[in-house]
Amino acid sequence: MLSTTSLPLLSLLTLTSAHFRVDYPYWRGDSFEEPASQWIWPCANVNQTESANNRTAWPLTGGSISLEVHHPWALTYVNLGIGNEVTSFETSLLTGFNQTGNGTFCLRELGGMSLADLGIEEGTNATLQFIQASGSGSALYNCADITFTADAELLSTDMCANTTGVAGVPLMNADATHMDHDEPTPTESAAEETSTGAAADLRVSGAGAGVVGAVVGFAALLAL
Ligand SMILES: *[C@@H]1O[C@H](CO)[C@@H](O)[C@H](O)[C@H]1NC(C)=O
Ligand SMILES: *[C@@H]1O[C@H](CO)[C@@H](O)[C@H](O)[C@H]1NC(C)=O
Ligand SMILES: *[C@@H]1O[C@H](CO)[C@@H](O)[C@H](O)[C@H]1NC(C)=O
Ligand SMILES: *[C@@H]1O[C@H](CO)[C@@H](O)[C@H](O)[C@H]1NC(C)=O
Ligand SMILES: *[C@@H]1O[C@H](CO)[C@@H](O)[C@H](O)[C@H]1NC(C)=O
Ligand SMILES: *[C@@H]1O[C@H](CO)[C@@H](O)[C@H](O)[C@H]1NC(C)=O
Repeated sequence: MLSTTSLPLLSLLTLTSAHFRVDYPYWRGDSFEEPASQWIWPCANVNQTESANNRTAWPLTGGSISLEVHHPWALTYVNLGIGNEVTSFETSLLTGFNQTGNGTFCLRELGGMSLADLGIEEGTNATLQFIQASGSGSALYNCADITFTADAELLSTDMCANTTGVAGVPLMNADATHMDHDEPTPTESAAEETSTGAAADLRVSGAGAGVVGAVVGFAALLAL
């Protein structure tokens, strides 16, 4: 179900994107090195190894994530799969987020309420799947293995800060702009008046917003 749903979606996105690094929780392995490849679903061809036993302790109510990102912006998802050897990631912890800027992107507390109903208890193992896709890029993947425990702490505030210029906006806004066709934003009207080339750009951005809608729908499907 996962792959048949995602294939048409991913084929809508064309190819250019920069790879990203997961600094926290510690990623499963360096996905910049062959035979790993961040293009490969679900975990960049980095396999879980029992011997590595390198799970980061994560609070029962959700924890911190820190990414090194290298592109102007990317649709960013964080999915959770519960178990010792996760093969599907059924819970979206972060969806509909347009991460902007280049540098460190840190969320101090991710998860929260959405974890309460998942049967997570002391010692539950799980894997976080990180996905980034630029508007003109197909998806990149990384994974990090975790153990939920009451002993874990959030990253301290001095360890978790966004680089200046790194932020994010909910994708819902992009979709709402797309739906609201009769009321172009001031920027759009200005662009239309000044150049016909801009009109073509607008159509492209409208199509992009459609893709975003599909992505949000897909994420909602996963959340089921
Ligand atoms: C991970 O496991 C798969 C399936 O066993 C294998 O095809 C792949 O080469 C492995 N990846 C690495 C990086 O060892
Ligand atoms: C476990 O994670 C730590 C912190 O990133 C890293 O230094 C170490 O190399 C990892 N060990 C293995 C076996 O991957
Ligand atoms: C979680 O994984 C570790 C190894 O990574 C293992 O030792 C432990 O038994 C697992 N916990 C559960 C509840 O299966
Ligand atoms: C991101 O920042 C690095 C280091 O400052 C810089 O070399 C790189 O060109 C930047 N990339 C983008 C897409 O802005
Ligand atoms: C980083 O930016 C995101 C998106 O704007 C924000 O939600 C988050 O709180 C920021 N992180 C920190 C540590 O302030
Ligand atoms: C994400 O934000 C950037 C910067 O504001 C913007 O250029 C881009 O179109 C946005 N992407 C989506 C899908 O909303």
